[in-house]
Amino acid sequence: MPQEGHVTDNAILLLAYTLRAYSPRFLGGWRRVTLRPEFGALLAGSPGVIETGSMQGWSAGHLIARRDWAPGLATLAIAAEIEPFDPGQFVNLGLEVAGVIERRSYSIASAPGGPLGFLVTEVQEGRLTPHLMRLAPGDPVFVEPKPQGYFTLKWVPSARELWLVATGTGLGPFLSILASEEPWQRFERIVLVHGVREQSQLAHRDELKELALARAGRLTLVAALSREAPSGGLLHGRITTLLAEGELERAAATPLDPARSHVMLCGNPAMIEEMTKLLGERGLRKHRVRNPGHITIEKYW
Ligand SMILES: Cc1cc2nc3c(=O)[nH]c(=O)nc-3n(C[C@H](O)[C@H](O)[C@H](O)COP(=O)(O)OP(=O)(O)OC[C@H]3O[C@@H](n4cnc5c(N)ncnc54)[C@H](O)[C@@H]3O)c2cc1C
Ligand SMILES: NC(=O)c1ccc[n+]([C@@H]2O[C@H](COP(=O)([O-])OP(=O)(O)OC[C@H]3O[C@@H](n4cnc5c(N)ncnc54)[C@H](OP(=O)(O)O)[C@@H]3O)[C@@H](O)[C@H]2O)c1
Repeated sequence: MPQEGHVTDNAILLLAYTLRAYSPRFLGGWRRVTLRPEFGALLAGSPGVIETGSMQGWSAGHLIARRDWAPGLATLAIAAEIEPFDPGQFVNLGLEVAGVIERRSYSIASAPGGPLGFLVTEVQEGRLTPHLMRLAPGDPVFVEPKPQGYFTLKWVPSARELWLVATGTGLGPFLSILASEEPWQRFERIVLVHGVREQSQLAHRDELKELALARAGRLTLVAALSREAPSGGLLHGRITTLLAEGELERAAATPLDPARSHVMLCGNPAMIEEMTKLLGERGLRKHRVRNPGHITIEKYW
């Protein structure tokens, strides 16, 4: 049963994150270097390849710290000057690979005001992530300074309960949202559901438990492992199966109901499709500005 704590101060996640980036106390997990502020100008566009030499408009950032959670899974803290963002938005990151710049989108997993955090998984055979995952503190990373996307609370209608449902690195935008004030002002309770293959991939778990403690019963953490026998209150299986079997609601001790719930889904596109279908069977439908509903989505591929 996954209610693991409670909250009183919503800055705790940001605080814990920032401390992990800067405090020697956390150096068990992090490597760090001094900031080197070199910034460029701006350029917008969609992910893909850019000729090297046309980096005008990008912010020339660099890695300041990394926290490795499991093989092929890390949180990268990057210093770069970008425009103000809303929690839930993403930016494009770029690296020079074999003479061209590979550019991909990454959700900002940190709160506004601190170093930029990104929860990244390595896609084997991927063109960018194998290089991104090899970065060491001090290495350059290009960051497009214009945050993008509508996966933010600004576009989420009010409800009694907010469900934040992620697979894998889809947790990232929820870390940023939970570190902000808005969800605590607008929703009575928040349920965070995180589905991963193995326990080691439950990134930021300790900070989330601290946040749940600090929020005093308003944040319920539900985590599920699909490829490892769980222990300590974790669920076993895909989160879609767990929803179909009623396990998610039991674990959250609250029903998914169009009269009281709004659900944000992030991560694996197949999960999002299946979840949307299952939620549809319970009367929850996609939210659109002109046709209000109960589901807001961000697909990663
Ligand atoms: C709005 C948005 C936000 C995103 N935020 C994040 C984030 O915070 N963290 C993160 O790790 N990724 C995130 N992604 C995915 C990211 O943009 C890249 O697609 C991913 O890192 C793979 O890049 P690559 O160059 O290594 O792979 P590519 O060479 O581009 O190959 C990509 C192929 O791998 C598959 N793929 C892509 N991403 C994944 C994945 N995570 N798991 C399994 N297969 C995948 C797809 O089939 C895709 O066609 C986001 C994508 C979008 C659209
Ligand atoms: N380099 C490395 O060592 C390393 C390590 C980890 C991951 N990776 C790579 O990273 C990429 C992403 O892996 P990931 O584990 O973060 O993400 P993922 O494959 O999307 O899996 C995350 C969770 O989502 C579940 N899931 C998948 N499809 C679903 C669906 N249709 N409905 C509901 N749940 C679903 C998975 O369950 P199932 O387990 O049942 O699929 C798992 O519990 C992959 O390409 C992987 O190969 C690399």
